[in-house]
Amino acid sequence: DLGGHDTYMHKEIAEQADAVDRVLAGRIDDRFATVHLGGLNLDPREARAVRRVKILGCGTSYHAGLIGAQMIEELARIPADAEPASEFRYRNAVVDPDTLYIAVSQSGETYDALAAVQELKRKGARVLGVINVVGSAIAREADGGVYVHAGPEVCVVSTKCFTNTVVAFGLLALHLGRIRDLSVKDGKRIIDGLRRLPGQIAEILKQEPEIEKLAKSYADAHSMLFIGRVRGYPVALEASLKLKEVSYIHAEAYPASELKHGPLALIEPAMPTVAIVPEDDLLEKNRAAMEEIKARSGRILAVAHQEQEKADHTIVVPKNEDELDPILMGIPLQLLAYHTALALGRDIDKPRNLAKSVTVE
Ligand code: F6R
Repeated sequence: DLGGHDTYMHKEIAEQADAVDRVLAGRIDDRFATVHLGGLNLDPREARAVRRVKILGCGTSYHAGLIGAQMIEELARIPADAEPASEFRYRNAVVDPDTLYIAVSQSGETYDALAAVQELKRKGARVLGVINVVGSAIAREADGGVYVHAGPEVCVVSTKCFTNTVVAFGLLALHLGRIRDLSVKDGKRIIDGLRRLPGQIAEILKQEPEIEKLAKSYADAHSMLFIGRVRGYPVALEASLKLKEVSYIHAEAYPASELKHGPLALIEPAMPTVAIVPEDDLLEKNRAAMEEIKARSGRILAVAHQEQEKADHTIVVPKNEDELDPILMGIPLQLLAYHTALALGRDIDKPRNLAKSVTVE
């Protein structure tokens, strides 16, 4: 049921404020400034014994995992990273008993992620799932986890599930943080930020008419660069994947810090850049990167919390807590990908060559 929308992608983008309400529902514990995650199966002693977190997923789920790893490092101060499950399973990785492994999957059926989980379990690792589909293969195989409650996602490209997965990682990071050294004050700050997300998502979605205009003005590009730094980089990766998948425009994501090590050579008027510019400690660095691009006559579309002087256009996104800003910054870029694909007449819900769940190797 499209509920008045022309495509499932549009419907699923539009549903995100409600979807985020669902992932938060019943989980916040104001008294202890933490969250309850009923299915985690990880008691506080076990959680404190974790020395590392390794997150595995494919495609969009891998990108959500990259943001999740940053949140866990920042809030729980546990070293964390993410890797494509498809790579991990083929490289005879060292499986470490003090590492908590987390498999991320919308469908819970992606074969590469499932195979990685089975290999980890065989070697005695503890594996949690961050999964949308209840009772799916990976959910059954994992020792416990967090359901993301995005609701059914029909469009082949993932939108609301990405957002909900990242919010679920915010909850997990807060939970792990509050068992370790995150203060009550910071716990409350993150909880307040989480509660502001649905309203802020609704505000972003109201900007659709302007984003549609921007999409039309960039739809003639043959290739686009997406840049971000630290918190912004996984957002850039995900936004570039979304654009590729639905519009078939080539897009590449780069850490803004790496521009001068090669990709600056690509900059010219026909190669626009989307710059993810959260207002954090790296704001000035990001402004400098935009200046470098401007000096080489590149067009820039910024996603930021305030108009960016160096950019040709800015999509202004409401400010949340620094740690949670990446959740919001991806949303206007889903709309940008959608409207670019629409302007180019693409088959939005079923892009060529792709399947919703990749259950083969
Ligand atoms: C991107 C997309 C794919 C999936 C990937 C993993 O829009 O849909 O990249 O994210 O195939 O799928 P799940 O999350 O079901 O394991």
